[in-house]
Amino acid sequence: AAVCIAISSAAAATSVNTTDFVGCLALHLPPGIVYTQSSESYSSVLEFSIKNLRFVTPATPTPLVIVKATHATHVRVAVRCGAAHGVRVRPRSGGHDYEGLSYRSLDAARSFAVVDLAALRAIRVDVRSRSAWVESGATLGELYYGIANKSARLGFPAGVGPTVGVGGHLSGGGFGLMLRKHGLAADHVVDAIMVDAKGRLLDRAAMGEDHFWAIRGGGGGSFGIVVSWKLLLVRVPATVTVFTVHRPRNQSASDLLTKWQHVAPALPRDIILRVVVQNQDAQFESLYLGRCAGVVATMTKMFPELGVTRRDCIEMSWIESVLYFAFYGTGKPKELLLDRGTKPDRYFKGKSDFVHEPIPRDVWESTWSWFLEDGAGLLILDPFGGRMGRVASSATPFPHRHALYNLQYYGFWWDNTTEASEQHMSWVRGVHREMEPYVSKSPRGAYVNYKDLDLGVNEYGGDGGGTSYETARVWGEAYFKDNFERLAAVKAKVDPSDFFRNEQSIPPLGLPGGLKS
Ligand code: FDA
Repeated sequence: AAVCIAISSAAAATSVNTTDFVGCLALHLPPGIVYTQSSESYSSVLEFSIKNLRFVTPATPTPLVIVKATHATHVRVAVRCGAAHGVRVRPRSGGHDYEGLSYRSLDAARSFAVVDLAALRAIRVDVRSRSAWVESGATLGELYYGIANKSARLGFPAGVGPTVGVGGHLSGGGFGLMLRKHGLAADHVVDAIMVDAKGRLLDRAAMGEDHFWAIRGGGGGSFGIVVSWKLLLVRVPATVTVFTVHRPRNQSASDLLTKWQHVAPALPRDIILRVVVQNQDAQFESLYLGRCAGVVATMTKMFPELGVTRRDCIEMSWIESVLYFAFYGTGKPKELLLDRGTKPDRYFKGKSDFVHEPIPRDVWESTWSWFLEDGAGLLILDPFGGRMGRVASSATPFPHRHALYNLQYYGFWWDNTTEASEQHMSWVRGVHREMEPYVSKSPRGAYVNYKDLDLGVNEYGGDGGGTSYETARVWGEAYFKDNFERLAAVKAKVDPSDFFRNEQSIPPLGLPGGLKS
């Protein structure tokens, strides 16, 4: 259906008319997909994709309206009505944003709407061309399941969490256990269909290469709403091998972590050996794209101190390995990958760094005393090298490919008290502060998919405009280094009125909304 809603560009930035906005949606959308705050099921629709209890509070500014799109036209209507009546729209795919920016804002004074894509989740796999079209609202688990159902010899190199949404994940780069062999998830996007700030439906050819570059890692919520992605799938062997070995503090964990930093980024690219450090234990987890004998031989040669033997190996299919790492165990039904979950179950706060020089042993030794007694804090070390190091830093917006590893700090808790929140938030922030001397500098890096508002937020000027480029550089260059300026230039071209804006969206370079200095 044609989408004929007049947009005045001035209206997008200044005059806000929420009643007319809701009227516009009601006029152009079918009943049953628009939820206002007075709708009976507003809360359940809102909470369906929330993963962090920190943002389920009466004080959290939530959307004026949620449009649960079931067709690309619905996304176009929401954008056009929003632009015509001055109500900004935030897309939500899987709702895993670490700061909840797909469904909450920090600013109670400004109304916004959410286009929820959870029902736009079709997956079409073409085995012959080794490609797939996947809609943004699909989860990674649904994507992996859809691929495995068509071929046991194809896979996709994206993240570990099965409930993560394809839309936000690909928008921020996305990495998982095949990153050393195949790089980022976004490296495998060859086309996309998106709705831009004018409400037009564009494919790669229509949006142009700069815009297409920006959506593959420049962070979600800045450049439009991607409805679907064309992915090139990768070949996986019939049999892969996994192992998990625990090495507690009193069994040389500090020595092993120190050596791991040299070994893991230099292993053959068919092997990833990541570490989860929790409480007084280092858990070494590995996926090898081959059989047990191969990984044991390599580990014996390159990392004998870890003491991996054949008994540690479990051979399985690639899809079983996805389940293994998602749910920590074997023999689970594939259908678990289709479970999106329906309620947030924990509070969490994450932060991240990139490490370029191995961290000294005495620092690892001191980290043990930082852990909280309840064990509810993790460090996750994902090694790079392999394919990651072979791609130019400017090939996509993700600039950190040449790091030794990504270091994530992740605090979580279940207790609904201010004390619990303060304790765990300050744990994450404290560990991040302690690590400053040992991680990337000038700027200190961070991974946009582990969004962190501690790095700074966009400032809004008067009269509804004025996201400052200079302010945004502080966090923008942490996420994107030199690519930040190019992202801001693309933003100025494709969304000069800064319609797609959130607390850490890319400002338009050189325009009133985004003055450079
Ligand atoms: P959500 O819907 O919240 O969107 C995130 C951001 O993208 C928001 O700004 C949103 O507006 C925007 N956006 C969403 N859909 C869009 C669309 N269609 N077009 C344009 N913008 C859009 N990361 C990783 O690299 N590897 C991993 O293994 C994991 N594992 C993991 C596990 C768990 C439990 C969590 C909570 C998170 C991860 N992540 C991760 C981080 C994850 O990749 C990141 O949070 C993604 O942005 C989440 O995408 P969603 O679509 O779920 O989020």
